[in-house]
Amino acid sequence: MSLSGKVALVTGAGSGIGKASAISLAKKGADLVLWGRTKSKLSQTGEEILSLGRRCLLYPVDVTLPADLSKAVQDIQKDFGEIDILVNSAGVNIPQSAEDVTVDAWNIIMDTNVKGLFFCCQSVGKQSMMPREKGVIINISSQAGKVALPYRAVYCASKGAVDQLTRVLAYEWAKYKIRVNAVAPTFVETPFTEKMLNDLEFREFVMSNIPLKRLATAEDVANAVCFLASDESNMITGAVIPVDGGWTIH
Ligand SMILES: NC(=O)c1ccc[n+]([C@@H]2O[C@H](COP(=O)([O-])OP(=O)(O)OC[C@H]3O[C@@H](n4cnc5c(N)ncnc54)[C@H](O)[C@@H]3O)[C@@H](O)[C@H]2O)c1
Repeated sequence: MSLSGKVALVTGAGSGIGKASAISLAKKGADLVLWGRTKSKLSQTGEEILSLGRRCLLYPVDVTLPADLSKAVQDIQKDFGEIDILVNSAGVNIPQSAEDVTVDAWNIIMDTNVKGLFFCCQSVGKQSMMPREKGVIINISSQAGKVALPYRAVYCASKGAVDQLTRVLAYEWAKYKIRVNAVAPTFVETPFTEKMLNDLEFREFVMSNIPLKRLATAEDVANAVCFLASDESNMITGAVIPVDGGWTIH
């Protein structure tokens, strides 16, 4: 499963699943562009990638600002090269009961998880992948795109939207030989879930729903990302692959 000679761009690469995906892609031979809001976090991921002997470009970007994304892609093309693989991992959640959801919380979650992800796909797809008629996009969705999770109305809606965007982009862009897939993890211990999984009652609820009886690791998710990025998955597009230990089969 070699990704040698490929350039991969990972959003949300400063921590969690984005960081693990970037490092796994580098281990398979890809050079990396890291997008995220906090340069110090990106630098830590970047150091690990450089120590693997891969090239790495850090680019602080807020994915909710589409005009910045387009400019950032131009800069990458000029300074680093064309983008072969895009992994959209930047995402947020604000757990709240449905009756307490504020407009601000709605906007933050939807702007990041849906609008940001879509315009990352559009910028990279249109500017770097379509002209060359090649490219692979992997969206980090969630089991929340498929099953209801309490206190996560907006988050579940956002991930349902990610699954549908994945299918529509796969359908529209097949003519450009661009594959678009998603990975849908169950709970993974990352900064994103630290507080919620420290609540023992919630942790028990999570574990009781996973037939394989363990949480996913960021590396479990990164392994699926690497497979979808590689030529071994050449005939797979529009798929939402669960990495959920069986949560969504029952
Ligand atoms: N951790 C889990 O249990 C879990 C489960 C299923 C899906 N996911 C999804 O995986 C993805 C990554 O989550 P994680 O667990 O690694 O969380 P994380 O908080 O460790 O990483 C998310 C990263 O996205 C960055 N980010 C947030 N908003 C951004 C913005 N506007 N612009 C640029 N970067 C931004 C954050 O700074 C952070 O580094 C998310 O899309 C999340 O919904 C996580």
